Amino acid sequence: MSSSENSAGGTTTPRLVAEEETSPGQLAAFEERIARGEKIEPGDWMPALYRKQLIRLIQQHANSELMGALPEGQWIPYAPGFRRKMALIAKVQDEVGHAQLLYRAAETLGKPRHEMMTELVNGESKYSNVFNYPCETWADIAMVGWLIDGAAIVNQTIMQTGSYGPYSRALQRITYEEAFHLKQGYDLVVTLHTGTPAQRAMCQEAFSRWWWPLMMFFGPPDRASVHTDILQRWALKPKTNDEQRQIFLRKFVPKIQELGLEIPDEDLRWDEDSGTWHFTQPDWDEFKRVIRGGGPLNAERLALRRLLYEQGSWLRTALEQAEQPRAAA
Ligand code: COA
Repeated sequence: MSSSENSAGGTTTPRLVAEEETSPGQLAAFEERIARGEKIEPGDWMPALYRKQLIRLIQQHANSELMGALPEGQWIPYAPGFRRKMALIAKVQDEVGHAQLLYRAAETLGKPRHEMMTELVNGESKYSNVFNYPCETWADIAMVGWLIDGAAIVNQTIMQTGSYGPYSRALQRITYEEAFHLKQGYDLVVTLHTGTPAQRAMCQEAFSRWWWPLMMFFGPPDRASVHTDILQRWALKPKTNDEQRQIFLRKFVPKIQELGLEIPDEDLRWDEDSGTWHFTQPDWDEFKRVIRGGGPLNAERLALRRLLYEQGSWLRTALEQAEQPRAAA
């Protein structure tokens, strides 16, 4: 059991626990609503496990948006030229805004934000594997903008059709903004790939490094997925990890090939019979290491996030103090 699961249970208020004691018919009525395609809203009755899974899912997603702002944020001072710098600043601000929207959606389920932040900076909750790898050159920023945001759009377009209203609505807005990120990432890739031989080589080198973490982005193969069954039962994850990966491959491999970037997987091929892309499985042991904190930059990225969180404590205190007289009045 992950620590976020522990804390999700631990932070549920007594009122919510009482609501979730299942009485005969409650679960059936809830599942009928889901079968009718209705959205579940914060005040509605929901099974305790639905709430717990949602908190886990949304918290990890919010963490990913916040941690994802770091590698790109660190490149802002080095962006080549004023326009590229403005676009990158805007993108980083968007990503932090996405985190705020998602933490807010998780708060509607009863988990306070400071708990989620504390768990993140203490390394007790997860975030996407991809944000633990280095951005060594400017071409990495191009790859993150095009392919990581591209993968996120695939994932979020699917997840936004899920059954929880606040998460679904937050994802609709996030996906809209990510679509612009993808365009700026693609423009960067094309610029580098059609530039000087050195730029082209830098582009290919970054692409080759990102390919494998990207293949892990949608999670372990379905046979190893822990949560898919329960998430699908309650329409929280409309497609499995492998289905999402295939949608990504169908969408992006032709674009990658059209550009002339070389995919570092000799076995990658379209399989007519199954109508799927056949690919070499990434190193799933590396994936496990990375999501448990042992990736190349986990410690460094978390240390930076912790520092930024501590630096912001004066503002949180000031806001809390400003609220107190009003609350007392
Ligand atoms: N990075 C880090 N951890 C990951 C991961 C990834 N790319 N993919 C899966 N995991 C973790 C899961 O969180 C889970 O860990 P936990 O039990 O400690 O919570 C474990 O690996 C087993 O995976 P699985 O059972 O398949 O998890 P899942 O059903 O939640 O599916 C996602 C994984 C990423 C597809 C799903 O959580 C999802 O769509 N999340 C919302 C979107 C999101 O977070 N996107 C990332 C950033 S944009």
